This record gives sequence, structure tokens and C-alpha cells, in this order.
Amino acid sequence: MRTILAAITERKQAFAELPFFAFLRDESLDPEQRLAFYPCMAHWVMSFADLNKYFFRAESAGDMHQERVNVYSHEDDDHWQLYIEDFQTLGFHRMFDGTDWLRFLWSERTRANRMLSYRIARLITGATSVQRLAIIEALEEAANVFFAHTLPLAERMQERTGVELRYLGHFHYNLEADHTGAGDHESLAEIELDDATRRRTLEMIGEVFDLFEDWAEEMLRFTESQLSSRASVYMQAAPPAAPPHARAASM
Ligand SMILES: [Fe+2]
Repeated sequence: MRTILAAITERKQAFAELPFFAFLRDESLDPEQRLAFYPCMAHWVMSFADLNKYFFRAESAGDMHQERVNVYSHEDDDHWQLYIEDFQTLGFHRMFDGTDWLRFLWSERTRANRMLSYRIARLITGATSVQRLAIIEALEEAANVFFAHTLPLAERMQERTGVELRYLGHFHYNLEADHTGAGDHESLAEIELDDATRRRTLEMIGEVFDLFEDWAEEMLRFTESQLSSRASVYMQAAPPAAPPHARAASM
């Protein structure tokens, strides 16, 4: 499995270089502006509980690798509650009314988020217990990149407003840090894979990161569209330009 872990590290580093993360680090924007991505990821976050409960987990496995998968599946299956909490705190529940939420969540604007849920479900279904551990490791590393970027934004919001964002901030981050995940890297690295399994597992990891790259592109596209629509609202609300004599007087 050492080759698989090396491939995950390599893809994780490339993932962290994507423009979405540069956007999240852009100090010229307020934390609130950078957090405009939040509603776009709803389908993925809410589906993650189902992935854990109904795809990763197999309680009667009797296989040590699947047992580890089972432990992981219990650790992360209720984090959607934290997501909803921050959703309300940030006021996104007011973004749409009624069925407009359904239209948005199943629209082209959020397609990559849904594909992430569906295609990872399909990958898990066709994976052995060891391959499931590899998929978990890839998911965890992608999540580590994301949450390392949201943590400072949540901190900044809390400093300014006193309100804690538990999904995006320290609370969730610390929960994840305490998780066993796929297990420690050394014991994972020592799992032996035959050539065919190694090849197939590398393909699976490749697919996970390809999906996350599409996801990050969609998240950025969505966020920028939110910012430009807000900017145009601000522009409409801006006071009329001062008459020429007033401008001259202020120079
Ligand atoms: Fe989580």
C-alpha cells in the first residue's frame, strides 16, 4: 500500500494548489465573502452520512480492514448536523425559499457536488475492504486541505462577531484530528497488495481526486458568481456620483 499512500500525497499536494484554495487564502476579501461557497457543498456534506452508513459500513464483515472501515464510518456520520448549524449561523437558510432550494441543489451549478456523492458511492460498492481504506485515506486528505483553509476564516469570524462556526472551525477540526481515519500511515503502508489490486486501487485514488478537482472548480465558480451578484447589488445601492463641483472641491 506504500505506493498508494505516495500517490495520495502527490494528488493531495496538487489539489492544494488549485485556484479555489488560493481564493480562500485571499486576504483582500472578507471572510464572509470567501465563505460564500458554503451552500454549494450541501449535497456532498449531507450525502456523506449515507455513504458512511449504507456504503462504507458492513457490520458483519469479520475482516480486520473492514472493521477499521466500520469504526471510521461511525466517526463521521453525524457531522452534517454541524454543517446545518453553520448554515443557519451564516444566514444561508434565507438564500432561497421552498422548492427553489430543491432546484438549486439539483441544478447544473451544483452538479460536481452531486457527482462526488454518487461516484464515490459507486467506487465504494466495487471496493474491497483494503481499497475502502485507501478511499478513506484519500477523502481524509482532501478534507484536510479544505478544513485547513476554512479554519482561519472561522477564527476571523469569531474574533469579529463572537460567533463560533463549529463545522468550519476548531470544533470539527479537532474531532477530525482525533479520528483514527483509515489508520496510521505505517500500518497502512505495510498492507501487501498484488499488482492487479495495486493498479486498480491507484485508479480509484485517481478518480477520487479527479472528482475533488471538479468539485473545487465548481465551488470557485459558484462563489465567484455569488460575489459578482452581490457586487452588482451593492453597485445598484451605491449613492449617485457626486456632481463635478463637489468632486473638484474634495481634491
Ligand atoms: Fe467530519
